[in-house]
Amino acid sequence: MVNTPRKRLVIGNWKMHGDTAFNSELLAGLRTGIQSVAQCDVAVCVPFPYLYQVRSLLEGSGVTWGGQDVSEHEKGAYTGEVAAAMLADFNCRWVLVGHSERRGYHGESDATVAAKAAAALAAGLTPVVCVGETLQEQEAGQTHAIIERQLAPVLALGADAVSRTVIAYEPVWAIGTGRTATPEQAQEVHALIRGRLDAAGTPQVRILYGGSVKASNAASLFAMADIDGALVGGAALVASEFLSIAAA
Ligand code: 13P
Repeated sequence: MVNTPRKRLVIGNWKMHGDTAFNSELLAGLRTGIQSVAQCDVAVCVPFPYLYQVRSLLEGSGVTWGGQDVSEHEKGAYTGEVAAAMLADFNCRWVLVGHSERRGYHGESDATVAAKAAAALAAGLTPVVCVGETLQEQEAGQTHAIIERQLAPVLALGADAVSRTVIAYEPVWAIGTGRTATPEQAQEVHALIRGRLDAAGTPQVRILYGGSVKASNAASLFAMADIDGALVGGAALVASEFLSIAAA
């Protein structure tokens, strides 16, 4: 098994924020500041209508981009959905799949999430597969079982597919709440995921942590053995804050 170090990755998830004027300013800030962040891959996942703008303003900057969701279908009569090939057409490199806000508000099942990951891979995108337990599940001591259940259909896609993904652990109770998992709490779940990835023969897959990551707590999270970067929500909307996380 090769054990070359995994390159750090920090992805900003803009969620449903931004407009063309706001984005222009944020992207200009990222373009300028990215020069000082060499050791880390940096990306933004933006609302679909802004992909054209984001591509125009980030091309050649070193910052890559992606979508926040994708259809599990290749094409066809699926009103309102966006195909992986459409994202690839805008030179997206990444797409989030199975974010807890998709699982929670749109009823996406583990199987649907895996199908979306497969659709993304087929179009040459890197799916960032999000997993994480709710507060209720955490309090019931079900964290490991939930993560295993969410991961299973993704791992079933096979080593070749899994090796081309990124996994993001986002405990739902830490998203947008200001309540970050402690580095030790996050590491414990990352170690579980790492074990599954090793067993699947894909030790190089990066595992990101997400949930109230800020410049002030990023370094302590990144010091953990199995945390390879972050999926950042709120703090990704401020260029200096987001870049400080990447610099950490
Ligand atoms: P916050 O960083 O705002 O907690 O959001 C985390 C998240 O959901 C990123 O996908």
